[in-house]
Amino acid sequence: MVSGPESQPGNQLQGRHRAAVVAGVGSWLPARVVTNHDLSAELDTSDEWIRSRTGIAQRHVIDEGMATSDLAVEAGFRALKSAGSSDVDAVVVATTTPDRPCPATAPDVAGRLGLGPVPAFDVAAVCSGFVYSLAVASGFIAAGIAERVLVIGADAYSTILDPQDRTTRAVFGDGAGAVVLRAGTADEEGALGPYDLGSDGSLADLITIPAGGSRQRSAPGQSVERADHYFQMQGKRVYRNAVAHMSQSARRVLASAGWSADTLDHVVAHQANQRILDAVAAELDVPGERVVSQIERVGNTSAASIPLALADAAASGTLRPGQRVLLTAFGGGLTWASTVLRWPDVTAVTS
Ligand code: UT7
Repeated sequence: MVSGPESQPGNQLQGRHRAAVVAGVGSWLPARVVTNHDLSAELDTSDEWIRSRTGIAQRHVIDEGMATSDLAVEAGFRALKSAGSSDVDAVVVATTTPDRPCPATAPDVAGRLGLGPVPAFDVAAVCSGFVYSLAVASGFIAAGIAERVLVIGADAYSTILDPQDRTTRAVFGDGAGAVVLRAGTADEEGALGPYDLGSDGSLADLITIPAGGSRQRSAPGQSVERADHYFQMQGKRVYRNAVAHMSQSARRVLASAGWSADTLDHVVAHQANQRILDAVAAELDVPGERVVSQIERVGNTSAASIPLALADAAASGTLRPGQRVLLTAFGGGLTWASTVLRWPDVTAVTS
């Protein structure tokens, strides 16, 4: 599905196309760092294997007793600070690790941020969740349902990984990033869109937590395989699909925006694996140095990876106002999602 401010019938602002515009960006990482060497002390793995297969050197992990909402509140607070206002009329949290299966995490986050009785809900699209949430929030704004939306990507995969699974333990880390979107016009710096979103449910089993939902319940007294409570990933097949879908989705959204890949200043792709980032750059024929990468320091943080990378790149001066940026994500579902923007003049607030 391709849609965007140009194709949406929604409200008009000052006679021009109404669009969601990035007004602030923030991120937060828990203080505790787990290095590859730490992992190799407890699992049959090595710094050399993890670095060469993924580009990851360390990941941040929450302390016992913390949950995804704690990450989301910290990142949301920083995005609001970056935007210079706590005035928002909706909150969307993208996550695969909600504090609990029910209710959603977003209302709690909105309450703890003191945002009042605003609509608040979660979006479940695994590692594509943040870009899906941008699209949802853009739709709210285009339709006039909201003027300002806080969109947070927050995940605490350390809470769902099998402690004995060296592959997923090597890849995933915890963190959160967020943006504030405001109503504006499609021709402004910071305006998001068009979007390309898609899914392939026939490959749902490639990334899954089999138990705990309505198909395989985990009520007291029911026997469930221990591994079925943990996150499971068929890495090789996920890898191939990640490269293919992010590249194809990116090409579609660029075509729809009327941008050629060689005019991109930066590609901010889901930070799944450095080799995946390199392969997407090669597929798009974009020089590797234009692909933002934070993966060495934070690993794969799922729904948090794109806003964390945006906040980090903005804070370091890599992203500069007016530059053309492509966002592309891929994750369980399978799902994928891409959009573009010209980077706005915002000051990122990071931890
Ligand atoms: O965020 C959502 C999207 N997620 C992704 O995009 C992740 C995509 N997948 C990947 O990034 C890669 O597939 C992984 C990093 C997960 C795995 O890398 P790989 O190069 O595909 O390795 P593999 O799974 O094919 O495993 C190769 C070997 C196996 O040993 P054998 O069977 O060849 O003897 C694994 O058991 O490497 C072994 N292995 C490890 N060895 C040391 C797997 N994990 C580890 C490890 N340390 N941590």
